Amino acid sequence: MIEPSKKTGIAEAHSKLILMGEHAVVYRKPAIAIPFPILNASSIIEKTNSKIIYINSHLYNGPADAAPTFLQGIVKSIDAVLTYLQKPKMGFTIHIKSEIPIGRGLGSSAAIALAVIKAVFQYFQVRADKSLLLKFVEIAEKHAHGNPSGIDMEAAYEKEPIWFIKGEKTDTIKIKCPFFLVVADTGRFGETYAAVSSIREKYESNRRETELAINKIADATFEAKMALQSGRLPALGQAMNEAQRQLTNLGVSDNHLDNLIALARQKGALGAKLTGGGRGGCMIALTDSLSTAEGLAQQLLAGGASQAWAYQVQSTD
Ligand code: PMV
Repeated sequence: MIEPSKKTGIAEAHSKLILMGEHAVVYRKPAIAIPFPILNASSIIEKTNSKIIYINSHLYNGPADAAPTFLQGIVKSIDAVLTYLQKPKMGFTIHIKSEIPIGRGLGSSAAIALAVIKAVFQYFQVRADKSLLLKFVEIAEKHAHGNPSGIDMEAAYEKEPIWFIKGEKTDTIKIKCPFFLVVADTGRFGETYAAVSSIREKYESNRRETELAINKIADATFEAKMALQSGRLPALGQAMNEAQRQLTNLGVSDNHLDNLIALARQKGALGAKLTGGGRGGCMIALTDSLSTAEGLAQQLLAGGASQAWAYQVQSTD
């Protein structure tokens, strides 16, 4: 956490995991995402006497106007917030800290944008509800991802697992019994934008087959929802495996993800799949106990993962 001083706004946002439905969600199919509060982003807005806005983060330290591409979306959204609040674009520094690896399908850009925007509203002591906050996060997300479904920012905001359909009101999902996930990072940047575009091309050139895979992902996502609501972890694992089969058919997995997924299954995971955009990034594996998840995280590290976390998803029923 960053230490506050003088007049400040402080806020935090968590990373997210897409449990089921990535890519199909772009085609208005449902997806399930869960908060991943093991990795968080935080922001502090600190008053200065400067005539400009500064950004202070571990990746960039300097004037907001000269920020590198990956921060420009956030700069645009802050600009929009200040216009909305009718405040001058000067006189504070935006401190950003994030534990969320960038470009790994864990929702780093949405979490950072949400933390910063919440902190700006807090700094000016203006209350902002979910729809107002996300309106500004969306500006940063569109800059980062082109035309995102919106699942990342919804999941960054919500504290419980969500059932998300693009353009519809987000619901939370009741979780009957706790379950355990291992999240493992291939250590390689995911290529969400390229992966989404490649499926779009397939959709144009081979509609029937692409639609079939998307529909199968949607069916598996419904199965997963029922499994979560009734506490049937083996059924959830099977749904995850089916989603991975279809994501592979769609061409968005890769060797590094496939190797970790195969290893997780071989070591007893109930199911395993990529999470997020794919083509690099992270995979997730399901287990029925925390100790199994912790052991599996070690095995995935030994098997080539650059980082791995074991995580308990609480029951909400
Ligand atoms: O930003 P990522 O890598 O977590 O991917 C988001 C999920 C996709 O379905 C691949 C894209 C989207 O806009 O929903």
